[in-house]
Amino acid sequence: MSIPQTVRATTQILRKGEVDRTPTVIRAKDPMTIVIFGASGDLSKRKLIPALYNLHQNGCLPDKYAVIGLSRTPMSDEAYRQMSIDFMKKEGYEDLDPNHYLFQALHYCPGNNDTPESFQALRKRLEEVEAKRGLPPNRLYYLSVAPHFFSIVVEQLMAARLIHDPKVENTWSRVIIEKPFGTDLESARALNAAITGVLDESQIYRIDHYLGKETVQNIISFRFGNTIFEPTFNNKYVDNVQITVSETLGMEGKRGAYYDTAGAMRDMVQNHMFQVLCLTAMEPPAALDSTSIRDEKVKVLRALEPYNADQVRHNTVRAQYGPKLKNGQTVEPGYLGAEGVDPESTTESFVAMRLFVNNWRWAGVPFFLRHGKRLAKRVTEVAIQFKQPPMHLFKQNDSAELCLLDDRPIQNQLVLRIQPDDGISLSFGCKPPGMQMRLQQVDMDFLYKEAFDLRSPEAYERLILDALRGDASLFTRSDEVEYAWRFIGAILDGWKHSGDKKLPQYEPYGEGPLEARKLMEGSHRRWRLIKDM
Ligand code: BG6
Repeated sequence: MSIPQTVRATTQILRKGEVDRTPTVIRAKDPMTIVIFGASGDLSKRKLIPALYNLHQNGCLPDKYAVIGLSRTPMSDEAYRQMSIDFMKKEGYEDLDPNHYLFQALHYCPGNNDTPESFQALRKRLEEVEAKRGLPPNRLYYLSVAPHFFSIVVEQLMAARLIHDPKVENTWSRVIIEKPFGTDLESARALNAAITGVLDESQIYRIDHYLGKETVQNIISFRFGNTIFEPTFNNKYVDNVQITVSETLGMEGKRGAYYDTAGAMRDMVQNHMFQVLCLTAMEPPAALDSTSIRDEKVKVLRALEPYNADQVRHNTVRAQYGPKLKNGQTVEPGYLGAEGVDPESTTESFVAMRLFVNNWRWAGVPFFLRHGKRLAKRVTEVAIQFKQPPMHLFKQNDSAELCLLDDRPIQNQLVLRIQPDDGISLSFGCKPPGMQMRLQQVDMDFLYKEAFDLRSPEAYERLILDALRGDASLFTRSDEVEYAWRFIGAILDGWKHSGDKKLPQYEPYGEGPLEARKLMEGSHRRWRLIKDM
């Protein structure tokens, strides 16, 4: 894997063709130690250590730092280093030097997430490592552990005097908390209360890796850095907005047991998709600081009126993928046959919903959100579908020659493609060459990889770097999480009390359940076809 030596992160505007020669590397300056709880877990091995490696390669880490991994498996520092290197090799990293600064800075401390002795041992280990490496006690704790440990770890850290008072001392302690942040409004409130009882909000970094994606951040720059699109982002011009996160993966990697307790709504919609919704719908922030951005996102979430049971029925669809069949034989189990999933489960692997952001800008514009596992294609996008022209000039005459080539009326569409093939495309009607006056839909495409000769940092790189620099703009605030749960929780309640004993099944690797169409019934609207995205 070839990794460029610098990440250029600037806020300046470059003209077309202009080369960015700014030597600016956004860099964490404070020497520090990162403690990873859940060090032998998948996230740590697949994302966190590689993210630190890339950050180091790009010159984004301070001159001096250390990493301490903590998990139950007994292991020496050496074994932890080797495990990290071996795993990165499997992920495609070549020529890894065991003497690289990062690998030499990796240490290991076996321990539990809930026993005071483990935290005493961690404290001892931290002090030893810091003394040996001449590091001040700046500490970033990354909680990559099961959610029921979040508040326990935070309390144990405090009890072991591993958290600094942010107002008194000159050094810092920050805690990154993974998802899911609660499973409903009540549990999210309880978790917020538990951790804010110990930590100051400024020390808490609730991570949502979607916010670290380059193209998700670009929603803000695209909307508020240009004048031609933003004035059309409202109910005067927009007919509907479709946000799709489609995955081909199912329950691979033994995810069934976890997923069956969560489902598509908790796993993806409440967090990642709602963040994308907020950035798409929010008002311009006063500045690009964490408070201003998060204030605007919260306003979007507050404008979502929670649904009652009847509205839940009319505005949401849930389903599970069925088995893949060949000549009548099952060649791949469906959701209910996946390892770890209850065969009678009513947990959804697909969700589609219609919601309204009830504010001046968006009143009356339906937002359609759709997410599922085992669909036709892996793709994430936001499609803004504009209203049709007030008069259908091209449909006035019934003669085939004078109408549209497409049987659907042409709508201008702006698609913000988040992954893969990150980019933006605008489609509009155009007269194809010829004697007839006809309209055909054409696309204008912008692709990141064609426009920029720069590597996009991975989401976790960006977010870890921000946390090291004390910038929480791309992390979620307690009120954001709670407002999101207020809306999603009402839907989950509606489902729970619906009495449904079985969910509709959809064909694997397709467009999702036919039932999702009901959300658009009686209108000219249609879901965009996933296979064509
Ligand atoms: C995770 C979910 O948060 O995001 C997974 O738990 C999902 O179920 C994943 O597959 C999707 O992330 P990405 O970055 O691949 O779109």
